[in-house]
Amino acid sequence: MDLQTVQAWVTGAQRIVGFTGAGISTESGIPDFRSPGGVWARNRMVDFEEFLTSEEGRVEYWRQKVEAWPAMRAARPNAGHAAFVRLHSLGKLSVLITQNIDGLHQTSGLPRQAVLELHGTTTEAACLSCGDRITSDEACERVEAGERAPRCLKCGGFLKPATISFGQPLSSAVLRRAQSEAESCDLLLAVGSSLVVEPAASIPRVAKYNGARLVIVNREPTPVDEIADAVVRGEIGDVLPAIVGQES
Ligand code: APR
Repeated sequence: MDLQTVQAWVTGAQRIVGFTGAGISTESGIPDFRSPGGVWARNRMVDFEEFLTSEEGRVEYWRQKVEAWPAMRAARPNAGHAAFVRLHSLGKLSVLITQNIDGLHQTSGLPRQAVLELHGTTTEAACLSCGDRITSDEACERVEAGERAPRCLKCGGFLKPATISFGQPLSSAVLRRAQSEAESCDLLLAVGSSLVVEPAASIPRVAKYNGARLVIVNREPTPVDEIADAVVRGEIGDVLPAIVGQES
């Protein structure tokens, strides 16, 4: 499918749902998960069960968090994020569903209510017992000061970055809203995701099976490509601004 056709679909669409993965933030200096050198090539994955049951697992989880936090904190949105802000300012973007935890869609200018964070946010840590939240700056300072796996100061429960680990349930309210937006959009633009992690990866399928056009923008093939109306290969910062009619 040529780029002009995809541009014309975007121009003609009225309810676009954006769906993003880690690939949209690599040009901001945040590594993705499954590319060479990505997070899972460099880190041992601590799943939710291990976090709940093992002090060693919690220590390792927080070690990884403290290591990644300075780059995450310093990252700034890029041309890919700006492309979704343009769609929003044109009144075409009904919602931006993201698997990302970096908060860059909000920093780029999308209103909070327009962003659905399926996998939570890394900007805060939450107590798994009472739900109290503190900033990641505070949590990381405490780890660096010697609390290797910090506990909630209010109730003593386990503090965990407010992100969703493997084996941890997603917010059902956020997931339901994402599914319902996917059901009612006329175009879903899936950008920078390997589309292999469920239930997130089903969202583009829901849109397609409910009559929307599905456009995938990614450097590599995904398992959902076969049902997409268009697959655009390339660097997101190059192709996404063009797709939304924005100068790059
Ligand atoms: N331009 C185009 N594509 C890119 C770019 C780029 N600049 N950078 C990366 N990509 C592509 C990669 O080729 C890859 O296919 O983005 C995709 C990112 O895939 P993953 O690393 O698997 O990230 P994601 O799909 O967001 O992962 C889903 O897995 O580990 C969990 O919870 C984590 O939310 C994450 C989930």
